[in-house]
Amino acid sequence: MKTDVANRFIWFKGKIVNVNDAKINVLAPTAQFGLNIFEGIPCYWNDDEKQLYAFRLEDHYDRLLRSARLIQIDCPYSREELKKAFIDVIKMNEYDENISVRQTLFVDGFGSWGSSEPADMFVAPVPRGRISKEYNKKALNCSVASWQRISENTLSPRIKCGANYINSRAGQREALRNGYDTCIFLNQAGKVSEGPGSCLFIISGGTLITPLLTDSVLESITRDTVIKLACDLNIPVSERSIDRTELYTCDEAFLCGSAMEITAISSVDKYIIGNGGTGKITDLLHKEYLKAAIGQNKKHSDWVTAVYDK
Ligand SMILES: Cc1ncc(COP(=O)(O)O)c(C=O)c1O
Repeated sequence: MKTDVANRFIWFKGKIVNVNDAKINVLAPTAQFGLNIFEGIPCYWNDDEKQLYAFRLEDHYDRLLRSARLIQIDCPYSREELKKAFIDVIKMNEYDENISVRQTLFVDGFGSWGSSEPADMFVAPVPRGRISKEYNKKALNCSVASWQRISENTLSPRIKCGANYINSRAGQREALRNGYDTCIFLNQAGKVSEGPGSCLFIISGGTLITPLLTDSVLESITRDTVIKLACDLNIPVSERSIDRTELYTCDEAFLCGSAMEITAISSVDKYIIGNGGTGKITDLLHKEYLKAAIGQNKKHSDWVTAVYDK
């Protein structure tokens, strides 16, 4: 029987348990210092096939293992074990809807911020309706954050660790305080970087433009997906640094990420973008993204992993 959210099963330190029984010691470095690395892995329900597809699962594990290496947490599980835990916990919950799966490696025990063990893992499915409000908006009113994005030589944004999200939080809280939906960060060089939990694209004169991976952004899987889909559609793509003023004059803009998918930006610092709604290219890319995510893009069928046995 499908479980309700309050009693869903999660995979926790080698066992599948009720979420209420998954407890972490308050002195664990993950609890005290955000010493964990994680992935939010989107899964899409294909109702025709009665199948749930995980989107770009292997790419998420590549990034998880890169983050582990960079932050020096030894992942105690093999790739096969990462995948098995993921599949087992979804099956146990019998999900037949879109979900996001949080797969987190964390430092447990009684150590400090310098500890690297004992490391363990949880895998928690989150039904899509439950993710943050700004992710479910039609088009977003954004501000440029007064906070700078973390940078390579302070806290590298390439590492997807819990602690990095305190910078995201500062920008997001500021945006909400000032009546915006979310924010766009600038990097140390004053160039555009990304949103608090998403990457950014602008469209000018028919070209899709996105900051370089060295402009203080996470190596986003959705960013990579968008670039590949745009190439398939013969839309020119340019990866280059973007000035703040380009945000104010572009024809279309959107944020993208596993949680956000592709979400149009309607304004930046109250400069209206395009007609203030979702632009044509943004809409097209979002439709193509959703097609690929439910396994309907034959060229990229390797992007999806079927969860249920048939
Ligand atoms: C700061 C940041 N940038 C970008 C992204 C988008 O990454 P992805 O497309 O891999 O979900 C995320 C989401 O995880 C994020 O937190």
